[in-house]
Amino acid sequence: MDPKLFNRQLLKWHKSHPRPMPWLGLSDPYKIWVSEIILQQTRVEQGWNYYLNFTEKFPTIRALAEASQDSVLKQWEGLGYYSRARNLHATAKEVSVNLYGKFPDKHEEMLKLKGVGPYTAAAIASFAYDLPYAVLDGNVFRVLSRYFGIHTPIDSTKGKKVFAKLAQKLLSKEHPADYNQAIMDFGATQCVPKNPDCEKCPFQEDCVAYRDDLIDLLPIKEKKLKKRTRFFQYLIFNQGDQVWIRKRVEKDIWQGLYTFPLIETKGMIDQRELLKNKNFAQLLSTGQASIAQVSRPFSQQLTHQKIHGVFFEIQLSQPKEDFPEDWKLIPRNQLADYAFPRIIDLY
Ligand code: ADE
Repeated sequence: MDPKLFNRQLLKWHKSHPRPMPWLGLSDPYKIWVSEIILQQTRVEQGWNYYLNFTEKFPTIRALAEASQDSVLKQWEGLGYYSRARNLHATAKEVSVNLYGKFPDKHEEMLKLKGVGPYTAAAIASFAYDLPYAVLDGNVFRVLSRYFGIHTPIDSTKGKKVFAKLAQKLLSKEHPADYNQAIMDFGATQCVPKNPDCEKCPFQEDCVAYRDDLIDLLPIKEKKLKKRTRFFQYLIFNQGDQVWIRKRVEKDIWQGLYTFPLIETKGMIDQRELLKNKNFAQLLSTGQASIAQVSRPFSQQLTHQKIHGVFFEIQLSQPKEDFPEDWKLIPRNQLADYAFPRIIDLY
């Protein structure tokens, strides 16, 4: 993708989708700084009045420096994450005392200030001074990961590098402020996290996520991914030398592969708990079967889920015909003819 084409299209979209905000177009780094710290806490709509009240009460960096901590926190009340307000206050004092009250105009100098990270420094540098630093916030991660189909987790070290490099490459060097505002607004109003209206999107044609139906998947977060852990209790119903299997048709992992019937539980369970499980009881009434063997736990790591599985070998006391319709009874020595997920193959 040609960066020029990308940002031309983005700026064109932005022109026809103006989004009013009280700090828009200002070049006072202090006010931009305040607005950006507020926006790390909340959305534009809710941050609006906080910004107006805060800058009315503390119109300059000196006014903020001279204020009491209590009055600063009072202005912040309800926004949460009060260390942001305390940092804002401490940095105002620092600039007041050591930098003659003048907010730095160089990106590297901004980064040295307490509470000013890469995102805030890029926002202030571009909005106040039109310096070519690309912002990278949640909106930008989302837009870029979808448009380019990038699966690298945005919260990984590698992801941060990959996205920062790409964002900087795409940034309009002629209009960094407009570009940064445009991509954040685009992410906040068009390329939204849930159910974006892709039919209205000017990037639809070139968007990899749209093309490959990955809108709901991207961007990927490593920490979130690790959270999904599932426990499958595989039930191997043996009937003579035959065994019951079924095809996975539901919209879930391993669609189209075969499986032994399974019960999903919230954690590991043992034989006793299985017999008490109501889904299990629904399949079998007492006396119809006995558990002949329980395997050790097996596990399989998928891109987005960790699966733990235990296999229960169950002996049916007599042939059972009333299992769900889509289950299939096959000779055990034909198991190899069916495709199973790896975790079953491991067993
Ligand atoms: N989120 C953080 N800063 C923003 C800004 N300047 N415009 C829109 N959304 C934002």
